[in-house]
Amino acid sequence: MALWSGRFEQGVSEGAQRFGASLPVDRAMYAQDIAGSIAHARMLGRQGILDAADVERIEKGLLNIKRQMDEGTFVWDLNDEDIHMAVESQLIRDVGAAGARLHTGRSRNDQVATDTRLYAKELLLSLVDGNDALRKVILTSARTNFGVIMPGYTHLQHAQPVLFSHHLLAYFWMLTRDHVRLVAAWRSADANPLGSAALAGTTYPLDRAYTTELLGFSHPIPNSMDAVSDRDYLLDLLYACSVSMMHLSRLCEEIITWSTTEFGFITLSDAYSTGSSIMPQKKNPDFAELTRGKTGRVYGDLMGLLTTLKSLPLAYDKDLQECKEGAIDAAGTLQDAMACVGGMVATWQVNADAMRAQASRGFTAATDVADYLARRGLPFRDAHEVVGELVLYCERRRKGLEDLTLKELRSFSPLFDDDVLEGLDPEGIARARTTYGGTGHEAVKTQLREAARQLGRDRRQASSLRGRMPNVTGD
Ligand code: ARG
Repeated sequence: MALWSGRFEQGVSEGAQRFGASLPVDRAMYAQDIAGSIAHARMLGRQGILDAADVERIEKGLLNIKRQMDEGTFVWDLNDEDIHMAVESQLIRDVGAAGARLHTGRSRNDQVATDTRLYAKELLLSLVDGNDALRKVILTSARTNFGVIMPGYTHLQHAQPVLFSHHLLAYFWMLTRDHVRLVAAWRSADANPLGSAALAGTTYPLDRAYTTELLGFSHPIPNSMDAVSDRDYLLDLLYACSVSMMHLSRLCEEIITWSTTEFGFITLSDAYSTGSSIMPQKKNPDFAELTRGKTGRVYGDLMGLLTTLKSLPLAYDKDLQECKEGAIDAAGTLQDAMACVGGMVATWQVNADAMRAQASRGFTAATDVADYLARRGLPFRDAHEVVGELVLYCERRRKGLEDLTLKELRSFSPLFDDDVLEGLDPEGIARARTTYGGTGHEAVKTQLREAARQLGRDRRQASSLRGRMPNVTGD
């Protein structure tokens, strides 16, 4: 019989029981459930609502259950509706009346809200660690391959030569913003609903500030109805995961393109490639594709929760039980994807020659030739026109700009001299882009230093957040 069976004459039908259960999902939050219960019990003791001996029995009993769950020896009863019931009914079996006093001044509604917030904070800290680890790998590859030149693209057409490091660092900064979003989601989860009871607060003199301190929350949520029904922080988590998956998907798309025969810019390690069951020669970038594919699933988790929450009346509704699965799925997917992408980047072979060969193709010096004319007094718009005509002329004759004679050049503009192509090899073109944030060698060195400093700051922030997690279970 369920712990709420008093007013019922018969149990829930078997199918409905299975349909209504959340244990398969929320058993993942057992450590948080137990931490929340220990904090609640200690607070009840301190307020004189429970006597010290009962609190001790409860705490010991809970730690014993936790140990079994940690070790995997706990016998789960699938008739328990959720993790809260599973822990509490076991506690009552183990320690009797003291266990049955634990739920004083508490409801599963504030309990699930507390567990989910604690769990979300834990997930987010792991994601922050995963994000930082991936950025470290990207930064290392950008450092190791400093000097490698590749074509920069717009519209996937050759645009201007850039340093490969510069291209990679663009992802570093995208992921830095993801770190910020993950921390923002952590902060939005960082508030204590415990003590709100079912929806209206309780008649017992609970000390919500004390459980807030024990559980490492920044403050108690000021409105009990909001406390039991708010899941915004999971939306924040899902949005942060979605954006980060989108960034990984973009990088993976490039990894896929770069490892084609046509590009050959990188060679993925065997450890991050798969073969074909029919074509013996194949080496496929499966894990990059899968990351791209799983992005859709994480977006789906975000849309799912937005839809679940829409139109819910205050306060708790059973619909809210649906909130956890997608968030856990999205966090797990992003965690695995970051590790996989990190593995690819750490082990890929960068084919500098193939990148360099492409960097000069497709008239990537054209902007700089126009700049040359502009420096000699021609308005840039007119210079642009002249070089456009030059490119057309070259294309018709299947020539590069570097193949033109001075005479040919002069037929387009008398401002051309034989120094026009000086320094207009791909390295020279990149090097000349000295603006802050540009692809010039010195600018990229500055960027590498800034990235390292940023990562250092972010690591320090992550460890200070870690220091604010609860430790009532003595782990
Ligand atoms: N399993 C429920 C959930 O995940 C716990 C809260 C249930 N409360 C209730 N009154 N039915 O949301």
